[in-house]
Amino acid sequence: MTKKIDRYAVMGNPIDHSQSPRIHALFAAQTGQALDYRAILVERGGFAEAARDFGGRGGRGLNVTAPFKQDAWVFADLLSAAAERAGAVNTLIFEAGGVRGENTDGPGLVRDLTVNHGYPLAGQRILVVGAGGAARGILQPLLLEKPSQLVVANRTSETALELALRFGDLGRLSGCGFHDLVGQQFDLIVNATAAWVEDAAPPLPENVLVSGGWCYDMSYGKRPSPFMRWAQGCNAGRVLDGLGMLVEQAAEAFQLWRGVRPDTAPVIEALREVGS
Ligand code: ATR
Repeated sequence: MTKKIDRYAVMGNPIDHSQSPRIHALFAAQTGQALDYRAILVERGGFAEAARDFGGRGGRGLNVTAPFKQDAWVFADLLSAAAERAGAVNTLIFEAGGVRGENTDGPGLVRDLTVNHGYPLAGQRILVVGAGGAARGILQPLLLEKPSQLVVANRTSETALELALRFGDLGRLSGCGFHDLVGQQFDLIVNATAAWVEDAAPPLPENVLVSGGWCYDMSYGKRPSPFMRWAQGCNAGRVLDGLGMLVEQAAEAFQLWRGVRPDTAPVIEALREVGS
């Protein structure tokens, strides 16, 4: 009799450009784990049914990407404290007692910045641009690193203010619109907007990045994003894309599922080689 292989998947829409199957295949090879991981395209509005079906067929875990992170939050039977507060889930673990929801995006970002790039978040003035699902997932882990200030700025300022209220008890956090940033300066700017979809950079005021400051785009593509190009014109010390975060959040998920943490450095390197 052949041994059944544990099944995992990423669900999203669109999903064809997802790097997750490749990342998890590399993790599995590296740690000697036998598993099957594939990408599943899910129709909008169809997440709960697709996830239930996947679990019903013995699926062990899911990664969840746009636009289903809030649906996954609703779907989970049990939430970690961080996922509960974020209102977004990117990792589901199917267990005998029910489906557990976690959010590994924030820990992935923090690990990429602090461990892979040696950036000390403590004491820094940080600006997060955007107040959607991507921003929600990173605010708590960033605040736990004790920056001197964390500002969330959004095109729709009300949403930024809502997030500041939701996470404000965890540290020095405020919310505002882009115009309110005039005259302020930050050591690190994290782009959590979906402005790249319109091939645009968020309209940030001049001099909002301190000379030599760092810019991080949570998105990842073959070419530098409009935000990264904007950052390069701002005398930034470093301009980073979200590939490292993508691999780190996947490693957190892999550890939750398999109980072993893969080494991310060779995987990031392998993906960079393919992308270049
Ligand atoms: P995600 O889950 O990727 O965060 P989302 O919840 O749709 O996606 O949120 C998208 C974010 O990108 C929002 O903060 C959005 O701003 P609004 O709340 O004002 O819609 C932001 N965004 C999208 N297009 C943008 C653009 N062209 N310029 C600036 N911000 C933009």
